[in-house]
Amino acid sequence: MEPFRFHVYVCTQEKPEGQLSCSANGCAAVLDALRAEVGRAGLGDEVQVTTCGSLGLCERGPNMVVYPEGVWYSRVRVEDVAEIVREHFGHSRPVARLLSGDAVALKAEAMENKRRYLAFMAARKAAAPTG
Ligand code: FES
Repeated sequence: MEPFRFHVYVCTQEKPEGQLSCSANGCAAVLDALRAEVGRAGLGDEVQVTTCGSLGLCERGPNMVVYPEGVWYSRVRVEDVAEIVREHFGHSRPVARLLSGDAVALKAEAMENKRRYLAFMAARKAAAPTG
């Protein structure tokens, strides 16, 4: 049994300059708004909010994933937070317009982003002065 009715992981990943990330897209404000709204709604004992590293959808941040359903949200803005808390956490109705996509597409996108990021880091390391 889950200790909380919902567990939300909010990506707060930072990346090197020039790389898209949830951090560069304003995740800190979304995280603050989410924590405040969960508290205002009186759901602090039912909704656990946790930060996490990259979920792999970096171009579409801020991203978050909600368990136990495994619902992924992308491009979440501060203005969306009250609706997520009210509809999803309050009424168990995920906010359809913010859903990231189906599981197969999500995995493909995350894997491609991982491949590109690792290639970027390898190129950066190769270009770094030695010695
Ligand atoms: S930086 Fe948030 S999903 Fe990659």
